[in-house]
Amino acid sequence: MSDNASVYLDNHATTRIDPDVFESMIPWFTDSYGNAGSGTHVMGTSARDAVESARRRVADTVGATAREIVFTSGATESVNLAIAGVVSRQPSGQCVVPVTEHVAVLDVVDQLERNGLSVCRVPVAAKDTETPGALDLNLLDEMIGAGTSLVSVMFANNEIGTVHPISAIADIVHSHGALLHVDCAQAIGNCSIDVTTSGADLASFSAHKCHGPKGVGALYVRRQQRIVRINPQVFGGGQERGLRSGTLNVPGIVGMGHACELASKRLDESIEQMTTLRAKLWDLLVDTIPGIQLNGPLLDRGVRLPNNLNVLIPGIDGSTLLAELSRTGVAASAGSACSSEQPRPSHVLLALGLSEEEVRQSIRFGLSRMTTSQEIQSASERLQAAIQSLGSA
Ligand SMILES: Cc1ncc(COP(=O)(O)O)c(C=O)c1O
Repeated sequence: MSDNASVYLDNHATTRIDPDVFESMIPWFTDSYGNAGSGTHVMGTSARDAVESARRRVADTVGATAREIVFTSGATESVNLAIAGVVSRQPSGQCVVPVTEHVAVLDVVDQLERNGLSVCRVPVAAKDTETPGALDLNLLDEMIGAGTSLVSVMFANNEIGTVHPISAIADIVHSHGALLHVDCAQAIGNCSIDVTTSGADLASFSAHKCHGPKGVGALYVRRQQRIVRINPQVFGGGQERGLRSGTLNVPGIVGMGHACELASKRLDESIEQMTTLRAKLWDLLVDTIPGIQLNGPLLDRGVRLPNNLNVLIPGIDGSTLLAELSRTGVAASAGSACSSEQPRPSHVLLALGLSEEEVRQSIRFGLSRMTTSQEIQSASERLQAAIQSLGSA
């Protein structure tokens, strides 16, 4: 890599499309552009076959069966379909969510609350505890009531990487007769996922977080052991067994299938590589930046996403630092990409008990399986130089 090559460390926001994934999508834009709903000609039936093959690949990656996968436009839509789809069957019920969920979850429950849903928001462990961002499962158990129809918990947090114990949470949720939705947007390619054995009833996925295309995702809706019923939120042609109408995004779906398959084939190797490089980045930062602090859980396997590092650099304004880093070709972020257009202090870091000033001094790095050791070295050097230039400005 050349000295001034750009370094992309914002992989929680989105990932680079894998060149093989991109290749696999091209024919579905160019020669084979049929509508997967057209059953009267080969262009249509071959598109339908490609969609069904992608459905099997996505299902295999997450431990589901193909008929449990509904294609959507991304995790935001999947989350909305899951939550509104359950709640609309029982509008006066209650929904339980941790306060550190992604806005895709928090905003839809806020909206449903305005229409009469009762919402219970669960706090998480603070910054000075063993696992910041973790749920107290006894408290969760207490907060789920007789009227609770749905609990929604993310598999792993997109800002601080806390991984939640989904099987244990599912047991608690089911003991109250409620359903569990798991937002897995950050998990594919970074964690081993098995929706069936973990007990999730619904789970949301996004292709662009695992080297697939943007604008395509999936919702898992359990049909094995028990059938989970949701109401559709988009109406029209009745595609996706009536759960999500609209002409299918065939190239995107093919790309998602391919991206999921690659993610699962390379999972062990990717976790190993990202864990090593993340440790290298942290070690380099600790050695060179006085007072730097880790936001979120320790960098242990299974407790934190292997690709996540969120740090607090005392005395340095995060957004000024990110702008300086960007000028030198390093892409990092302050937190969720969805909130960077309307800067608000991170609700996740605030929930851990950081002050607004500490939140402003925090930045997030997200690695991917494509991140190299040289990139980590170079990013840490540019970060150090950026901090020095800001300090002397
Ligand atoms: C945890 C989580 N949920 C949901 C989403 C939304 O995903 P999408 O961009 O596919 O709509 C994101 C995106 O950052 C995320 O990190």
